[in-house]
Amino acid sequence: MADTPQKPLKYRSQAWFDNPANADMTALYLERYLNFGLTRSELQGGKPIIGIAQTGSDLSPCNRAHVDLVKRVRDGIYEAGGIPLEFPVHPIQETGKRPTASLDRNLSYLSLVEVLYGYPLDGVVLTIGCDKTTPACLMAAATVDIPAIALSSGPMLNGWYKGQRTGSGTIVWMAREKLATGELDYEGFVELVATSAPSTGFCNTMGTATTMNSLAEALGMSLPGNAAIPAPYRERGQMAYATGRRIVDMVKEDLTPSKIMTRKAFENAIAVNTAIGGSTNAPNHLNAIAAHLGIELTVADWEKHGYDLPLLVNLQPAGEYLGEDYHRAGGVPAVVAELIANGKIHEDCITANGKTIGENCKGQFSWDRAVIREFGKPMKEHAGFKRLSGNLFDNAIMKTSVISEEFRQRYLSNPKDPNAFVAKAIVFDGPEDYHAHIDDPKLSIDENTILFIRGVGPLGYPGAAEVVNMRAPNYLLEKGIRSLPCVGDGRQSGTSGSPSILNASPEAAAGGGLAILKNGDMVRIDLNKGTCDMLVSNEELEKRRAELEKAGGYKVPPSQTPWQEIFRKEVGQLAEGMVLKGATKFQRVAKT
Ligand code: FES
Ligand code: MG
Repeated sequence: MADTPQKPLKYRSQAWFDNPANADMTALYLERYLNFGLTRSELQGGKPIIGIAQTGSDLSPCNRAHVDLVKRVRDGIYEAGGIPLEFPVHPIQETGKRPTASLDRNLSYLSLVEVLYGYPLDGVVLTIGCDKTTPACLMAAATVDIPAIALSSGPMLNGWYKGQRTGSGTIVWMAREKLATGELDYEGFVELVATSAPSTGFCNTMGTATTMNSLAEALGMSLPGNAAIPAPYRERGQMAYATGRRIVDMVKEDLTPSKIMTRKAFENAIAVNTAIGGSTNAPNHLNAIAAHLGIELTVADWEKHGYDLPLLVNLQPAGEYLGEDYHRAGGVPAVVAELIANGKIHEDCITANGKTIGENCKGQFSWDRAVIREFGKPMKEHAGFKRLSGNLFDNAIMKTSVISEEFRQRYLSNPKDPNAFVAKAIVFDGPEDYHAHIDDPKLSIDENTILFIRGVGPLGYPGAAEVVNMRAPNYLLEKGIRSLPCVGDGRQSGTSGSPSILNASPEAAAGGGLAILKNGDMVRIDLNKGTCDMLVSNEELEKRRAELEKAGGYKVPPSQTPWQEIFRKEVGQLAEGMVLKGATKFQRVAKT
Protein backbone atom coordinates (compact mmCIF):
# COMPACT_ATOMS: atom_id res chain seq x y z
CA MET A 1 0.00 0.00 0.00
CA ALA A 2 1.34 3.41 -0.91
CA ASP A 3 2.20 5.78 1.86
CA THR A 4 -0.56 8.26 2.52
CA PRO A 5 0.90 11.76 2.23
CA GLN A 6 0.70 13.70 5.50
CA LYS A 7 -1.11 16.98 4.94
CA PRO A 8 -1.55 19.53 7.69
CA LEU A 9 -4.91 19.27 9.43
CA LYS A 10 -7.15 22.30 9.15
CA TYR A 11 -8.98 21.68 12.41
CA ARG A 12 -7.97 19.81 15.56
CA SER A 13 -11.08 17.58 15.25
CA GLN A 14 -9.61 16.10 12.07
CA ALA A 15 -6.97 14.40 14.20
CA TRP A 16 -9.85 12.24 15.42
CA PHE A 17 -12.27 12.07 12.50
CA ASP A 18 -10.36 12.63 9.28
CA ASN A 19 -6.73 11.66 9.53
CA PRO A 20 -5.64 9.15 6.87
CA ALA A 21 -2.14 9.13 8.35
CA ASN A 22 -3.63 7.42 11.40
CA ALA A 23 -6.27 5.31 9.69
CA ASP A 24 -6.65 2.76 12.50
CA MET A 25 -7.53 5.23 15.19
CA THR A 26 -9.54 7.43 12.82
CA ALA A 27 -11.85 4.56 11.98
CA LEU A 28 -12.23 3.76 15.64
CA TYR A 29 -12.92 7.37 16.64
CA LEU A 30 -15.30 7.87 13.72
CA GLU A 31 -17.53 4.79 13.73
CA ARG A 32 -19.25 5.40 17.08
CA TYR A 33 -20.09 8.99 16.26
CA LEU A 34 -21.93 7.72 13.19
CA ASN A 35 -24.16 5.44 15.22
CA PHE A 36 -26.78 8.05 16.06
CA GLY A 37 -27.24 9.25 12.50
CA LEU A 38 -24.35 11.57 11.73
CA THR A 39 -22.84 10.92 8.29
CA ARG A 40 -19.24 10.64 7.12
CA SER A 41 -19.71 13.72 4.97
CA GLU A 42 -20.60 15.73 8.07
CA LEU A 43 -17.68 14.48 10.14
CA GLN A 44 -15.12 14.29 7.33
CA GLY A 45 -16.23 17.21 5.20
CA GLY A 46 -13.77 19.76 6.59
CA LYS A 47 -16.37 21.35 8.84
CA PRO A 48 -15.56 22.64 12.32
CA ILE A 49 -16.96 20.50 15.14
CA ILE A 50 -18.54 22.74 17.75
CA GLY A 51 -19.13 21.60 21.31
CA ILE A 52 -22.15 22.89 23.18
CA ALA A 53 -21.33 22.78 26.89
CA GLN A 54 -24.77 22.20 28.42
CA THR A 55 -25.05 23.50 31.98
CA GLY A 56 -28.85 23.28 32.13
CA SER A 57 -30.77 20.40 33.68
CA ASP A 58 -33.58 19.73 36.12
CA LEU A 59 -30.99 20.12 38.87
CA SER A 60 -30.03 23.59 37.57
CA PRO A 61 -33.23 25.67 37.23
CA CYS A 62 -31.27 28.89 36.63
CA ASN A 63 -29.69 27.37 33.51
CA ARG A 64 -32.56 25.09 32.48
CA ALA A 65 -33.60 27.44 29.66
CA HIS A 66 -30.49 26.19 27.83
CA VAL A 67 -32.12 22.79 27.36
CA ASP A 68 -34.40 24.46 24.78
CA LEU A 69 -32.10 27.30 23.71
CA VAL A 70 -29.50 24.89 22.33
CA LYS A 71 -31.93 24.00 19.54
CA ARG A 72 -31.42 27.51 18.18
CA VAL A 73 -27.67 27.27 18.86
CA ARG A 74 -27.58 24.10 16.74
CA ASP A 75 -29.55 25.82 13.95
CA GLY A 76 -26.99 28.62 13.91
CA ILE A 77 -24.02 26.24 13.90
CA TYR A 78 -25.43 24.17 11.01
CA GLU A 79 -26.30 27.22 9.00
CA ALA A 80 -22.79 28.62 9.33
CA GLY A 81 -21.28 25.31 8.24
CA GLY A 82 -20.37 23.65 11.54
CA ILE A 83 -21.40 20.40 13.23
CA PRO A 84 -22.71 20.66 16.81
CA LEU A 85 -21.98 18.09 19.52
CA GLU A 86 -23.76 18.79 22.80
CA PHE A 87 -22.46 17.41 26.10
CA PRO A 88 -23.32 17.87 29.80
CA VAL A 89 -21.38 19.99 32.26
CA HIS A 90 -21.29 19.10 35.96
CA PRO A 91 -24.31 20.96 37.44
CA ILE A 92 -23.82 23.90 39.78
CA GLN A 93 -27.06 25.25 41.24
CA GLU A 94 -26.37 28.07 43.66
CA THR A 95 -29.53 27.45 45.68
CA GLY A 96 -29.49 23.67 45.58
CA LYS A 97 -26.01 22.33 46.21
CA ARG A 98 -24.79 21.47 49.68
CA PRO A 99 -22.65 22.44 51.43
CA THR A 100 -22.09 25.26 48.93
CA ALA A 101 -22.20 25.56 45.13
CA SER A 102 -18.89 27.34 45.31
CA LEU A 103 -17.18 24.04 46.13
CA ASP A 104 -18.18 22.79 42.68
CA ARG A 105 -16.83 25.66 40.59
CA ASN A 106 -13.36 24.12 40.45
CA LEU A 107 -14.76 20.61 39.98
CA SER A 108 -16.86 21.75 37.03
CA TYR A 109 -13.79 23.60 35.71
CA LEU A 110 -11.62 20.48 35.93
CA SER A 111 -14.11 18.24 34.19
CA LEU A 112 -14.79 20.76 31.43
CA VAL A 113 -11.06 21.11 30.77
CA GLU A 114 -10.85 17.34 30.30
CA VAL A 115 -13.78 17.36 27.87
CA LEU A 116 -12.55 20.31 25.80
CA TYR A 117 -9.02 18.90 25.65
CA GLY A 118 -9.83 15.25 25.19
CA TYR A 119 -12.60 15.23 22.58
CA PRO A 120 -12.73 16.30 18.91
CA LEU A 121 -13.88 19.88 19.43
CA ASP A 122 -12.72 22.90 17.42
CA GLY A 123 -14.73 25.47 19.32
CA VAL A 124 -17.32 25.60 22.08
CA VAL A 125 -20.48 27.42 23.05
CA LEU A 126 -20.46 27.88 26.82
CA THR A 127 -23.98 28.01 28.22
CA ILE A 128 -23.69 30.25 31.26
CA GLY A 129 -26.16 31.53 33.86
CA CYS A 130 -26.25 30.69 37.56
CA ASP A 131 -23.44 32.20 39.65
CA LYS A 132 -20.61 29.67 39.41
CA THR A 133 -21.44 28.29 35.97
CA THR A 134 -20.01 31.40 34.30
CA PRO A 135 -16.58 31.39 35.97
CA ALA A 136 -16.30 27.58 35.73
CA CYS A 137 -16.88 27.72 31.96
CA LEU A 138 -14.63 30.74 31.35
CA MET A 139 -11.84 29.26 33.49
CA ALA A 140 -11.92 26.06 31.41
CA ALA A 141 -12.02 27.96 28.12
CA ALA A 142 -9.04 29.98 29.38
CA THR A 143 -7.00 26.86 30.16
CA VAL A 144 -7.74 24.97 26.94
CA ASP A 145 -7.85 28.05 24.68
CA ILE A 146 -9.96 26.77 21.81
CA PRO A 147 -12.35 29.38 20.34
CA ALA A 148 -15.22 29.85 22.81
CA ILE A 149 -18.30 32.02 23.09
CA ALA A 150 -20.64 32.40 26.04
CA LEU A 151 -24.43 32.32 25.82
CA SER A 152 -26.45 33.37 28.88
CA SER A 153 -29.69 31.71 29.91
CA GLY A 154 -30.87 35.18 30.89
CA PRO A 155 -32.47 36.58 34.03
CA MET A 156 -35.95 35.63 35.21
CA LEU A 157 -38.80 38.03 34.60
CA ASN A 158 -39.30 40.66 37.30
CA GLY A 159 -40.92 39.42 40.50
CA TRP A 160 -43.90 41.31 41.94
CA TYR A 161 -45.69 41.32 45.29
CA LYS A 162 -48.52 43.74 46.04
CA GLY A 163 -47.37 46.12 43.33
CA GLN A 164 -43.70 46.11 44.42
CA ARG A 165 -40.79 44.53 42.57
CA THR A 166 -39.45 41.52 44.46
CA GLY A 167 -35.90 40.59 43.51
CA SER A 168 -34.47 37.10 43.86
CA GLY A 169 -32.19 36.69 46.84
CA THR A 170 -32.63 40.29 47.93
CA ILE A 171 -36.22 39.61 49.04
CA VAL A 172 -34.96 36.80 51.27
CA TRP A 173 -32.91 39.16 53.42
CA MET A 174 -35.94 41.36 53.96
CA ALA A 175 -38.35 38.44 54.47
CA ARG A 176 -36.01 36.88 57.06
CA GLU A 177 -36.17 40.02 59.15
CA LYS A 178 -39.98 39.95 58.93
CA LEU A 179 -40.00 36.29 59.95
CA ALA A 180 -37.66 36.99 62.87
CA THR A 181 -39.84 39.84 64.17
CA GLY A 182 -43.06 37.82 63.69
CA GLU A 183 -44.45 40.09 60.94
CA LEU A 184 -44.63 37.02 58.67
CA ASP A 185 -45.36 33.37 59.48
CA TYR A 186 -43.75 30.41 57.69
CA GLU A 187 -46.43 30.28 54.94
CA GLY A 188 -46.24 33.99 54.30
CA PHE A 189 -42.47 33.87 54.31
CA VAL A 190 -42.28 31.11 51.65
CA GLU A 191 -44.94 32.79 49.47
CA LEU A 192 -43.20 36.15 49.57
CA VAL A 193 -39.83 34.63 48.66
CA ALA A 194 -41.39 32.61 45.78
CA THR A 195 -42.84 35.75 44.13
CA SER A 196 -39.30 36.77 43.24
CA ALA A 197 -38.87 33.78 40.88
CA PRO A 198 -41.76 34.06 38.37
CA SER A 199 -40.16 32.36 35.34
CA THR A 200 -37.22 30.33 34.10
CA GLY A 201 -33.88 32.13 34.23
CA PHE A 202 -31.28 33.26 36.75
CA CYS A 203 -31.58 35.79 39.60
CA ASN A 204 -33.21 38.98 38.33
CA THR A 205 -31.26 41.13 40.79
CA MET A 206 -27.68 42.36 40.36
CA GLY A 207 -26.48 39.29 42.22
CA THR A 208 -23.51 37.17 41.24
CA ALA A 209 -25.34 35.74 38.18
CA THR A 210 -26.25 39.03 36.47
CA THR A 211 -22.84 40.33 37.51
CA MET A 212 -20.88 37.43 36.00
CA ASN A 213 -22.99 37.32 32.82
CA SER A 214 -22.45 41.08 32.43
CA LEU A 215 -18.72 40.69 33.03
CA ALA A 216 -18.47 37.83 30.51
CA GLU A 217 -19.91 40.31 27.99
CA ALA A 218 -17.62 43.12 29.18
CA LEU A 219 -14.63 40.78 28.80
CA GLY A 220 -15.72 40.26 25.20
CA MET A 221 -16.64 36.60 25.54
CA SER A 222 -20.25 36.90 24.33
CA LEU A 223 -22.14 38.82 21.68
CA PRO A 224 -23.16 42.40 22.60
CA GLY A 225 -26.41 42.51 24.57
CA ASN A 226 -26.25 38.85 25.57
CA ALA A 227 -26.18 39.21 29.36
CA ALA A 228 -29.42 41.06 30.08
CA ILE A 229 -32.07 39.54 27.77
CA PRO A 230 -34.57 37.81 30.08
CA ALA A 231 -34.75 34.05 29.64
CA PRO A 232 -38.35 33.88 28.30
CA TYR A 233 -38.02 36.75 25.75
CA ARG A 234 -37.96 35.93 22.02
CA GLU A 235 -34.66 37.80 21.74
CA ARG A 236 -33.08 35.11 23.91
CA GLY A 237 -33.70 32.45 21.25
CA GLN A 238 -32.47 34.84 18.58
CA MET A 239 -29.31 35.45 20.59
CA ALA A 240 -28.82 31.67 20.84
CA TYR A 241 -29.05 31.38 17.05
CA ALA A 242 -26.63 34.28 16.46
CA THR A 243 -24.19 32.78 18.99
CA GLY A 244 -24.28 29.41 17.21
CA ARG A 245 -23.57 31.09 13.88
CA ARG A 246 -20.75 33.17 15.24
CA ILE A 247 -18.74 30.39 16.93
CA VAL A 248 -18.20 28.72 13.54
CA ASP A 249 -16.56 31.85 12.18
CA MET A 250 -14.54 32.26 15.37
CA VAL A 251 -13.05 28.82 14.70
CA LYS A 252 -12.24 29.81 11.12
CA GLU A 253 -10.61 33.01 12.41
CA ASP A 254 -8.88 31.15 15.29
CA LEU A 255 -10.25 33.81 17.67
CA THR A 256 -9.29 32.15 20.96
CA PRO A 257 -10.05 33.15 24.58
CA SER A 258 -6.47 34.30 25.19
CA LYS A 259 -6.82 36.85 22.35
CA ILE A 260 -10.03 38.22 23.89
CA MET A 261 -9.42 37.98 27.65
CA THR A 262 -6.32 40.17 27.86
CA ARG A 263 -5.16 42.20 30.84
CA LYS A 264 -6.92 45.26 29.35
CA ALA A 265 -10.16 43.29 28.97
CA PHE A 266 -10.03 42.43 32.69
CA GLU A 267 -9.52 46.11 33.52
CA ASN A 268 -12.61 46.87 31.43
CA ALA A 269 -14.56 44.22 33.33
CA ILE A 270 -13.50 45.72 36.68
CA ALA A 271 -14.75 49.14 35.53
CA VAL A 272 -18.04 47.64 34.37
CA ASN A 273 -18.40 45.80 37.68
CA THR A 274 -18.38 49.10 39.56
CA ALA A 275 -20.81 50.73 37.15
CA ILE A 276 -23.32 47.89 37.44
CA GLY A 277 -22.91 47.53 41.23
CA GLY A 278 -21.55 44.04 40.75
CA SER A 279 -21.28 41.27 43.31
CA THR A 280 -18.44 40.96 45.81
CA ASN A 281 -17.92 37.48 44.38
CA ALA A 282 -16.69 38.99 41.11
CA PRO A 283 -13.06 39.58 42.24
CA ASN A 284 -12.71 35.95 43.26
CA HIS A 285 -14.09 34.68 39.95
CA LEU A 286 -12.30 37.13 37.65
CA ASN A 287 -9.00 36.67 39.49
CA ALA A 288 -9.48 32.92 38.93
CA ILE A 289 -10.16 33.25 35.19
CA ALA A 290 -7.14 35.53 34.86
CA ALA A 291 -4.93 33.09 36.79
CA HIS A 292 -5.76 30.37 34.25
CA LEU A 293 -4.62 32.68 31.45
CA GLY A 294 -1.36 33.49 33.23
CA ILE A 295 -2.51 37.06 33.99
CA GLU A 296 -1.91 38.23 37.54
CA LEU A 297 -5.02 40.05 38.72
CA THR A 298 -5.09 41.05 42.40
CA VAL A 299 -7.45 42.56 44.96
CA ALA A 300 -5.33 45.73 44.67
CA ASP A 301 -6.18 45.88 40.94
CA TRP A 302 -9.87 45.99 41.86
CA GLU A 303 -9.37 49.03 44.04
CA LYS A 304 -7.03 50.67 41.52
CA HIS A 305 -9.24 50.25 38.44
CA GLY A 306 -12.67 50.12 40.06
CA TYR A 307 -12.95 52.03 43.32
CA ASP A 308 -13.25 55.59 42.02
CA LEU A 309 -15.86 54.88 39.37
CA PRO A 310 -19.56 55.60 39.87
CA LEU A 311 -22.50 53.22 40.24
CA LEU A 312 -24.76 53.73 37.22
CA VAL A 313 -27.17 50.80 37.26
CA ASN A 314 -30.17 51.09 39.55
CA LEU A 315 -30.82 47.39 40.20
CA GLN A 316 -31.57 45.66 43.50
CA PRO A 317 -29.87 45.14 45.94
CA ALA A 318 -28.17 48.57 45.58
CA GLY A 319 -31.21 50.13 43.88
CA GLU A 320 -34.83 49.52 42.86
CA TYR A 321 -35.11 47.76 39.51
CA LEU A 322 -34.67 44.23 38.14
CA GLY A 323 -33.52 42.27 35.08
CA GLU A 324 -36.27 43.19 32.62
CA ASP A 325 -35.67 46.87 33.35
CA TYR A 326 -31.89 46.44 32.87
CA HIS A 327 -32.48 44.87 29.45
CA ARG A 328 -35.00 47.49 28.32
CA ALA A 329 -32.65 50.28 29.35
CA GLY A 330 -29.90 48.88 27.14
CA GLY A 331 -28.01 46.32 29.24
CA VAL A 332 -24.22 46.07 29.18
CA PRO A 333 -23.67 48.03 25.90
CA ALA A 334 -25.44 51.08 27.38
CA VAL A 335 -23.31 50.87 30.54
CA VAL A 336 -20.09 50.45 28.54
CA ALA A 337 -21.07 53.41 26.33
CA GLU A 338 -21.26 55.65 29.42
CA LEU A 339 -17.82 54.48 30.51
CA ILE A 340 -16.39 54.95 27.00
CA ALA A 341 -17.74 58.50 26.80
CA ASN A 342 -15.80 59.23 29.98
CA GLY A 343 -12.55 57.56 28.97
CA LYS A 344 -12.86 54.59 31.33
CA ILE A 345 -12.71 51.71 28.83
CA HIS A 346 -9.87 50.32 26.71
CA GLU A 347 -11.80 50.57 23.46
CA ASP A 348 -9.45 48.45 21.38
CA CYS A 349 -10.15 45.13 23.09
CA ILE A 350 -11.35 42.55 20.59
CA THR A 351 -14.59 40.73 21.38
CA ALA A 352 -16.33 37.55 20.28
CA ASN A 353 -18.01 39.14 17.26
CA GLY A 354 -14.61 40.11 15.86
CA LYS A 355 -15.15 43.81 16.54
CA THR A 356 -13.66 45.85 19.36
CA ILE A 357 -15.66 46.73 22.45
CA GLY A 358 -15.44 50.34 21.30
CA GLU A 359 -17.00 49.49 17.91
CA ASN A 360 -19.73 47.48 19.63
CA CYS A 361 -20.73 49.94 22.32
CA LYS A 362 -19.74 53.48 21.39
CA GLY A 363 -22.84 55.57 20.79
CA GLN A 364 -25.17 53.10 22.50
CA PHE A 365 -27.22 54.76 25.17
CA SER A 366 -29.61 54.19 28.00
CA TRP A 367 -33.28 54.17 27.04
CA ASP A 368 -34.27 54.69 30.64
CA ARG A 369 -32.19 57.02 32.76
CA ALA A 370 -33.93 55.83 35.91
CA VAL A 371 -32.36 52.39 35.36
CA ILE A 372 -29.01 53.17 33.73
CA ARG A 373 -27.82 56.59 34.83
CA GLU A 374 -25.57 59.07 33.14
CA PHE A 375 -21.93 58.97 34.23
CA GLY A 376 -22.25 62.50 35.61
CA LYS A 377 -25.48 61.77 37.53
CA PRO A 378 -24.75 58.42 39.15
CA MET A 379 -26.48 56.50 41.93
CA LYS A 380 -23.25 56.77 43.95
CA GLU A 381 -19.71 58.03 43.50
CA HIS A 382 -16.67 55.88 44.40
CA ALA A 383 -18.77 52.76 44.16
CA GLY A 384 -16.06 50.14 43.69
CA PHE A 385 -14.46 47.81 46.19
CA LYS A 386 -12.06 48.96 48.84
CA ARG A 387 -9.18 46.69 49.79
CA LEU A 388 -8.49 46.31 53.51
CA SER A 389 -5.56 44.74 55.34
CA GLY A 390 -4.03 44.63 58.82
CA ASN A 391 -3.19 42.20 61.61
CA LEU A 392 -6.39 40.21 61.02
CA PHE A 393 -5.73 39.45 57.34
CA ASP A 394 -3.61 40.54 54.36
CA ASN A 395 -6.50 41.12 51.95
CA ALA A 396 -10.23 41.61 52.24
CA ILE A 397 -12.75 43.62 50.24
CA MET A 398 -15.57 45.93 51.14
CA LYS A 399 -18.28 47.42 48.97
CA THR A 400 -18.34 50.82 50.66
CA SER A 401 -21.09 52.12 48.36
CA VAL A 402 -23.75 50.11 50.21
CA ILE A 403 -23.00 51.78 53.57
CA SER A 404 -26.36 53.20 54.67
CA GLU A 405 -26.95 56.60 56.23
CA GLU A 406 -28.03 54.87 59.46
CA PHE A 407 -24.74 52.94 59.47
CA ARG A 408 -22.72 56.06 58.72
CA GLN A 409 -24.38 57.93 61.60
CA ARG A 410 -23.69 55.17 64.07
CA TYR A 411 -20.15 54.21 63.12
CA LEU A 412 -18.60 56.91 61.00
CA SER A 413 -19.69 60.11 62.71
CA ASN A 414 -16.51 61.19 64.53
CA PRO A 415 -15.84 64.58 62.88
CA LYS A 416 -12.08 64.26 63.48
CA ASP A 417 -11.87 60.86 61.84
CA PRO A 418 -15.03 60.40 59.77
CA ASN A 419 -14.01 57.20 58.07
CA ALA A 420 -12.78 55.18 61.03
CA PHE A 421 -14.38 53.50 64.01
CA VAL A 422 -13.52 51.26 66.92
CA ALA A 423 -15.90 48.58 68.20
CA LYS A 424 -15.97 45.38 70.20
CA ALA A 425 -15.53 42.05 68.42
CA ILE A 426 -17.87 39.08 68.85
CA VAL A 427 -16.57 36.03 66.96
CA PHE A 428 -18.48 33.04 65.63
CA ASP A 429 -16.83 29.82 64.47
CA GLY A 430 -18.86 28.96 61.39
CA PRO A 431 -22.55 29.33 60.56
CA GLU A 432 -23.81 26.77 63.10
CA ASP A 433 -22.20 28.70 65.97
CA TYR A 434 -23.67 31.96 64.59
CA HIS A 435 -27.21 30.57 64.21
CA ALA A 436 -27.12 28.99 67.67
CA HIS A 437 -25.88 32.08 69.52
CA ILE A 438 -26.70 35.29 67.64
CA ASP A 439 -29.76 35.96 69.83
CA ASP A 440 -28.04 34.92 73.08
CA PRO A 441 -28.11 37.95 75.43
CA LYS A 442 -25.05 36.55 77.25
CA LEU A 443 -22.86 37.66 74.33
CA SER A 444 -23.93 41.26 75.07
CA ILE A 445 -24.02 42.22 71.41
CA ASP A 446 -24.95 45.88 71.24
CA GLU A 447 -24.85 48.70 68.70
CA ASN A 448 -21.12 49.06 69.28
CA THR A 449 -20.26 45.53 68.17
CA ILE A 450 -18.55 44.16 65.07
CA LEU A 451 -19.66 40.63 64.21
CA PHE A 452 -16.89 38.30 63.01
CA ILE A 453 -17.27 34.89 61.45
CA ARG A 454 -14.30 32.62 60.78
CA GLY A 455 -13.80 29.05 59.65
CA VAL A 456 -15.82 29.82 56.51
CA GLY A 457 -13.04 30.30 53.94
CA PRO A 458 -12.01 27.88 51.17
CA LEU A 459 -10.39 25.47 53.68
CA GLY A 460 -12.60 26.02 56.71
CA TYR A 461 -15.88 25.42 54.94
CA PRO A 462 -14.69 23.84 51.71
CA GLY A 463 -15.57 26.23 48.89
CA ALA A 464 -16.07 29.22 51.24
CA ALA A 465 -19.55 29.82 52.58
CA GLU A 466 -21.74 32.84 51.75
CA VAL A 467 -22.41 33.65 55.37
CA VAL A 468 -20.46 36.77 56.29
CA ASN A 469 -23.48 39.07 56.21
CA MET A 470 -25.02 38.27 59.59
CA ARG A 471 -28.20 39.82 60.91
CA ALA A 472 -28.27 41.71 64.17
CA PRO A 473 -29.83 39.91 67.19
CA ASN A 474 -33.62 40.06 67.35
CA TYR A 475 -33.53 42.29 70.42
CA LEU A 476 -31.54 44.90 68.46
CA LEU A 477 -33.76 44.55 65.35
CA GLU A 478 -36.74 45.31 67.57
CA LYS A 479 -34.93 48.45 68.75
CA GLY A 480 -34.49 49.51 65.11
CA ILE A 481 -30.79 48.60 64.85
CA ARG A 482 -30.99 46.96 61.44
CA SER A 483 -27.39 46.07 60.76
CA LEU A 484 -24.03 45.61 62.45
CA PRO A 485 -20.66 45.63 60.73
CA CYS A 486 -19.65 42.11 59.72
CA VAL A 487 -16.20 40.72 58.90
CA GLY A 488 -15.26 37.22 57.85
CA ASP A 489 -13.06 34.85 55.89
CA GLY A 490 -16.02 33.67 53.81
CA ARG A 491 -18.09 35.28 51.12
CA GLN A 492 -21.37 37.17 50.95
CA SER A 493 -24.24 36.58 48.60
CA GLY A 494 -24.20 39.01 45.69
CA THR A 495 -27.88 39.65 46.33
CA SER A 496 -27.19 41.05 49.79
CA GLY A 497 -26.66 44.77 50.22
CA SER A 498 -24.74 44.62 53.51
CA PRO A 499 -21.53 46.63 53.93
CA SER A 500 -19.48 43.64 55.08
CA ILE A 501 -15.74 43.05 55.00
CA LEU A 502 -15.38 39.83 53.05
CA ASN A 503 -13.08 37.22 51.59
CA ALA A 504 -10.48 37.80 54.33
CA SER A 505 -7.29 36.05 53.21
CA PRO A 506 -5.51 34.17 54.61
CA GLU A 507 -8.47 32.60 56.35
CA ALA A 508 -8.37 31.39 59.97
CA ALA A 509 -7.81 27.81 58.81
CA ALA A 510 -4.77 28.92 56.77
CA GLY A 511 -3.15 30.68 59.72
CA GLY A 512 -4.72 34.13 59.29
CA GLY A 513 -5.01 36.55 62.22
CA LEU A 514 -8.75 35.92 62.51
CA ALA A 515 -7.88 32.61 64.20
CA ILE A 516 -6.55 34.40 67.30
CA LEU A 517 -9.24 37.05 67.66
CA LYS A 518 -11.24 36.77 70.91
CA ASN A 519 -14.67 37.96 72.03
CA GLY A 520 -14.37 41.42 73.53
CA ASP A 521 -11.21 42.46 71.63
CA MET A 522 -11.49 46.00 70.33
CA VAL A 523 -11.08 46.32 66.56
CA ARG A 524 -10.33 49.44 64.56
CA ILE A 525 -11.52 49.83 60.99
CA ASP A 526 -10.17 52.77 59.00
CA LEU A 527 -11.76 53.12 55.60
CA ASN A 528 -9.45 55.97 54.56
CA LYS A 529 -6.28 54.01 55.22
CA GLY A 530 -7.85 50.69 54.25
CA THR A 531 -6.96 49.00 57.53
CA CYS A 532 -8.69 46.61 59.91
CA ASP A 533 -6.78 45.70 63.08
CA MET A 534 -7.43 44.13 66.44
CA LEU A 535 -6.14 46.50 69.10
CA VAL A 536 -4.17 43.86 70.95
CA SER A 537 -0.50 44.16 71.99
CA ASN A 538 2.12 42.33 69.98
CA GLU A 539 3.08 40.40 73.10
CA GLU A 540 -0.47 39.15 73.56
CA LEU A 541 -0.74 38.29 69.84
CA GLU A 542 2.42 36.20 70.06
CA LYS A 543 1.11 34.44 73.15
CA ARG A 544 -2.13 33.58 71.40
CA ARG A 545 -0.26 32.36 68.32
CA ALA A 546 1.85 30.06 70.45
CA GLU A 547 -1.26 28.69 72.20
CA LEU A 548 -2.98 28.07 68.88
CA GLU A 549 0.04 26.25 67.51
CA LYS A 550 0.26 24.11 70.63
CA ALA A 551 -3.39 23.18 70.17
CA GLY A 552 -2.63 22.04 66.60
CA GLY A 553 -3.94 25.11 64.74
CA TYR A 554 -7.45 26.28 63.93
CA LYS A 555 -9.81 23.30 63.86
CA VAL A 556 -12.08 22.70 60.89
CA PRO A 557 -14.83 20.10 60.58
CA PRO A 558 -13.91 16.88 58.72
CA SER A 559 -14.54 16.60 54.98
CA GLN A 560 -17.81 14.89 54.03
CA THR A 561 -16.93 13.82 50.48
CA PRO A 562 -13.77 12.81 48.58
CA TRP A 563 -13.88 16.02 46.54
CA GLN A 564 -13.95 18.17 49.70
CA GLU A 565 -10.80 16.40 50.85
CA ILE A 566 -9.03 16.86 47.50
CA PHE A 567 -10.24 20.47 47.24
CA ARG A 568 -8.80 21.31 50.67
CA LYS A 569 -5.42 19.86 49.71
CA GLU A 570 -5.16 21.77 46.45
CA VAL A 571 -6.96 25.08 46.83
CA GLY A 572 -5.57 28.60 47.27
CA GLN A 573 -7.12 31.55 49.10
CA LEU A 574 -10.03 33.78 48.01
CA ALA A 575 -7.79 36.78 47.28
CA GLU A 576 -6.00 34.76 44.60
CA GLY A 577 -9.24 33.45 43.12
CA MET A 578 -9.51 30.21 45.13
CA VAL A 579 -8.04 28.25 42.21
CA LEU A 580 -6.53 24.79 42.38
CA LYS A 581 -2.88 25.64 42.85
CA GLY A 582 -1.45 23.04 40.50
CA ALA A 583 -3.91 23.91 37.71
CA THR A 584 -2.73 27.39 36.76
CA LYS A 585 0.51 26.17 35.16
CA PHE A 586 -1.52 24.48 32.42
CA GLN A 587 -2.14 27.11 29.78
CA ARG A 588 -3.35 26.88 26.19
CA VAL A 589 -3.38 23.12 26.45
CA ALA A 590 -5.16 22.64 23.10
CA LYS A 591 -1.91 23.69 21.41
CA THR A 592 0.14 21.08 23.27
FE1 FES B 1 -28.90 30.71 40.30
FE2 FES B 1 -29.15 33.14 41.60
S1 FES B 1 -29.49 31.14 42.32
S2 FES B 1 -28.64 32.68 39.59
MG1 MG C 1 -24.62 33.38 45.74
